[in-house]
Order: sequence, then structure tokens, then C-alpha cells
Amino acid sequence: MRVIKPNIYSVGVIDWDRRLFDELIPLPDGTSYNSYIIEGSEKTAILDTSDPATSSQFIDHVLRTGVEKIDYIVAHHCEQDHSGCIGDLLLLYPDAKVVTNPKCKSLLIDHVGLDEECFIEVEDNEELSLGDKTLRFVYTPWVHWPETMCSYLVEDKILFSCDFFGAHLATSQVYANNDALQYQDAKRYYAEIMMPFRPAIRKNIEKISELELDLIAPSHGPIYKNPDFIIDAYRDWVSDDVKNLVLIPYISMHNSTKEMVNYLVDALIERGVSVVPFNISGGDIGELAVELVDAATVVLASPYVLTTAHPDVGYVAFAANMLRPKTKFASIIGSYGWGGKMVENLIGMLSNLKAEFIEPVTCKGRPDEEAFEKLEKLADEILAKHKEIGIA
Ligand code: FEO
Repeated sequence: MRVIKPNIYSVGVIDWDRRLFDELIPLPDGTSYNSYIIEGSEKTAILDTSDPATSSQFIDHVLRTGVEKIDYIVAHHCEQDHSGCIGDLLLLYPDAKVVTNPKCKSLLIDHVGLDEECFIEVEDNEELSLGDKTLRFVYTPWVHWPETMCSYLVEDKILFSCDFFGAHLATSQVYANNDALQYQDAKRYYAEIMMPFRPAIRKNIEKISELELDLIAPSHGPIYKNPDFIIDAYRDWVSDDVKNLVLIPYISMHNSTKEMVNYLVDALIERGVSVVPFNISGGDIGELAVELVDAATVVLASPYVLTTAHPDVGYVAFAANMLRPKTKFASIIGSYGWGGKMVENLIGMLSNLKAEFIEPVTCKGRPDEEAFEKLEKLADEILAKHKEIGIA
């Protein structure tokens, strides 16, 4: 068992013995679920549980902490990766009460099948005494569902933030100690889970910034000893600022679209614009999401398949539309056999983006001089747009 602070234990669902080796331990889904046991002088609380698929491992880890009684099970979030073992925990500690907000209570009844009687409802900023320790509940809606909340351990200045500030990093290390790795995995987590809720997250960052913080302990990934590290990163990601960067997700069937992509990449680099060409075929969609966080411009590149876009490009358009990045400009390039409505269809799939569309470039078969000239013009236009918003 790893002591984090006096009377606070972390119950990570990772292989217990291998924790000694301080090495990365990937889980099947590449993440980890943390819950925390807090022992006050009078009462003991456990904050969040774990995914139902890990229930026996989770219960085993709780028992290994040696804790004799749990009085409160705090549910910050209904999603089952945190609530999925509450039922089994209640079998072990039948007198425990599930402490949560009214919205989460209602969802837990629906999703986890808990009885109405097992709950204690708490208001925003309400406190719960454990004796010499006090938990304050801070509502933080939309990080990641509408009912999400955090707990603040008043005496130790620790924010238990559940999904908020989490990282897709399954590691035996209790504390974050590799800033670059932590940054990238937290950014990926933000991109995949939080990005659609930027306005709500902004408000929640300001709300938790009013607290004096020594540690931020999320329920995914390691604990932050330097809370400003992750808070500042979040401030940047949720801001409206974009970088002088063009993301080009592409698929090519017979190399014509790839030739167009290569040409545009070179043209943009010559103009001092950074570019990330992303081959969707075999690519990691999570890495694509990370690039969507900052890119000022997205250019989708697809061959026409039958009469529309390649299905994999359609998938990327659907995902980008769902993630609602702060992309300012967008365009489409690609090669067709005889015709179709690829451009119209892709634009129709990106209705959530507040991006200004720049004239697409399409050509029949392999790109010729006329197509390359149009790609030069597209690169000029992208540079001009980036200059207009002061990033180039
Ligand atoms: Fe980690 Fe939204 O669950």
C-alpha cells in the first residue's frame, strides 16, 4: 500500500506487487482508475470506485489497505469507470452511505441500480466531517457529464477531481514525475473527453482556482504535486487561442490525393506554417484528437469513393464534429474519378465547427499543374488567414 498523505491511501487498479518497480503498467484500455480512501478520526470515506470489469481486483485492493470500516462512498461521477464497483462495495460495507449530488444520485439509480435509501445528497460547497478531516464538495458540471463534481480535503488542501485533469496514463507511479509524458497524456485525455465542453470547463477552472491547492488527485493517471502545471495547461487548451498549425487528416487510394497532400505540406512549410499530415489509415485517432486541440486550420483530404468521401475520412469528420475543436479555418482537398459530392457531404458533417471554409481543391485523377496552382493558392489563403488572427 502506498501512503500518499497521512491517513490517505490510493487504491489504484493496477497490479499491486509491480507497483514496487515504478514502471508503466498499461491496462487493456490504456488508462487506470484511482480511488482514494480517507481516514478521519471518526469516519472513513472512499472517493470513487472503479470499472465493473475490475471489481474483484478493486475489492481485493480495498481489503489490502486494512481499512476496517467505510462510512461514506463518495461518487463524483456516475460513469461506470468510477461507479461500477459501488454495488459490490456496499455488499462489503452494508452500512456505508453513497454521498453525491442529486443529479448524480438519479443517474446512479438508473445506471448502477442503487437503491434510493443508500444515498446522502450534498449541495455545492457542502462539507462532510470525518472527524479531523473535512470533505468539501464542489460542483463542477460537464467535466465530463452534467453531474460531475470534485471533493476538496480542506485540512490537506487536496482536490480530488475525478475525470477533471485526468490522464490516459496507466502507471504505477502515484505522483506525476515526467512532465512531458504527463502533459501529452493529459492533453490526449482532455482532447478525447473534455474538449466539447470548453466553456463549462473554463468556469470550473476559475471555480477550483479559488481553492488553496497542494495536490490535485484525479481518478485517472498520477497525482499532481504541482497543481499549476495542469491548471495552466488546461487554461491554454480551453482558451480560444490556436497555433500556426494546419492539420491534414488524409486517405489516399491510388496516390493522387497523397500527391496533393505532399504538395500542400511543402507549400505550407515554405510559407512558415507548421503542418501535421495525418494518415488516417492505421493512424491513432487519439493522436488526431490531440492535434485538433491547437490547430488553427484543418484540411480534410480524401479521394472520392463512389460518389462521396472515403468512409474513414467521414469517420474523422464525424469525430471532429463531435469533439468541437476551436478550429478557425477548414478546407477540403482530394481527387475524383468521374465526380460526386464529397465536398458538400464533408462540409455537411462539420456543422458543429465554427470554422470559416476556404475554397476546396479537387482534381480529376492525378493532380496536374492546374491542381498544384490551386494548392499554392490554398496555402497562400491559409497563411493570410493565420496572419489575420495574428498567429503567423
Ligand atoms: Fe472516467 Fe467520465 O469517466
